[in-house]
Amino acid sequence: MTEVSIEEVGVAVLLDAARAAARHAHAPYSRFAVGAALLLSDGAIVTGTNFENASYGLSLCAETVALATANAQGRLADVIAVAVTGGTMGSDGMPTGSTVVGPCGRCRQVINEAAELAGRDLPIYCAAADGSAVERHMLSALLPHAFGPKDLGLA
Ligand code: THU
Repeated sequence: MTEVSIEEVGVAVLLDAARAAARHAHAPYSRFAVGAALLLSDGAIVTGTNFENASYGLSLCAETVALATANAQGRLADVIAVAVTGGTMGSDGMPTGSTVVGPCGRCRQVINEAAELAGRDLPIYCAAADGSAVERHMLSALLPHAFGPKDLGLA
């Protein structure tokens, strides 16, 4: 099957999906809503949102939830782009603000698992909740010298 590209689908479409996912953030403790969207090689989009816990340290980030969902669909190796947005919740629960939100360190390592499996670097589109700014970073730039299968003698 021919692979779609992020240019074909549009960064705005992927970011809109991330923003829509943030609506469902379970973040009553931080009041910081994050949405993530993964573009798969066939054009499908898989989303995730942060899922906090009263035992704070157990909280899951949006990107990790999205990647676990892709994995549950047998699609971890098909991820070709990632989008993230987030911010402090407004009165309607949606993220607000003009600060660009990018993946935390743990999420970078989790994204790396998909990249390693697919044998490709991944573009990560990081956006401010109000849409005023978008940054594109390659995973390899956000997580240089990543720990991966090679470190376990598996690649
Ligand atoms: N969060 C994410 O969902 N993704 C990140 O990459 C950074 C942080 C969430 C975790 C927590 O629910 C809230 O944002 C505040 O840290």
